Amino acid sequence: MESVIVAIDGPSGTGKSSTSKAVAAKLGLSYLDTGAQYRAITWWMITNGVDVDDADAVASAAGKPTIVSGTDPSHPTITVDGVDASGPIRTQDVTSKVSAVSAVPEVRERITELQRSIAEAAGAGQGIVVEGRDIGTTVLPGADLKIFLTASPEARAARRSGELRGADVHATREALIKRDAADSSRKTSPLAKADDAVEVDTTDLTLQQVIECVVTLVEEKR
Ligand code: C5P
Repeated sequence: MESVIVAIDGPSGTGKSSTSKAVAAKLGLSYLDTGAQYRAITWWMITNGVDVDDADAVASAAGKPTIVSGTDPSHPTITVDGVDASGPIRTQDVTSKVSAVSAVPEVRERITELQRSIAEAAGAGQGIVVEGRDIGTTVLPGADLKIFLTASPEARAARRSGELRGADVHATREALIKRDAADSSRKTSPLAKADDAVEVDTTDLTLQQVIECVVTLVEEKR
């Protein structure tokens, strides 16, 4: 089988992570959650007292933490300076601050470099599924397959509240819309669909249906 590089982008709550992990596991590919990397650097900034609203301070600290991502889709891991950060990066505090940190060009440069080296290494094997916001447009513009997942704001908020075990759907919807607006409007590599990406609207699809759809698209490319 030939190696394949798959980029899966889209806003939060579209099923990106669940789909990407399942597709990678099913096809024997590596998996990279780039959102986890931006969350990890944000967590490091908070833990080390960097004011995340001060872009200059964030920019000068961007090179300091060592972030390592494990790419096994059945057990993705992330460490910051050798410490397991999988739990802390999912807190509400990190979620509310990650868009500000990820908008800083020096942060994006650093994390993009990391992502490209992971994708290059995986490309020497079976390949990789990389999920994020700017993978098809900026990080891996030469990816073999680009997918852009969408869903209505209502469906996305309902899924996210389910994941957060019954969090208020209205508040979740407002927070999601705010984060997507920040991610889509930033100057450096915003959340966007690449011209050559296949758009999949997941609003009325089950997770299983989305997985099958993406697996078929990948198999067509191999
Ligand atoms: O995917 P997840 O919701 O964990 O992403 C967290 C945040 O990381 C996004 O809201 C966005 O600010 C940032 N991100 C990004 N570029 C990516 C992936 C995530 O800016 N490729």
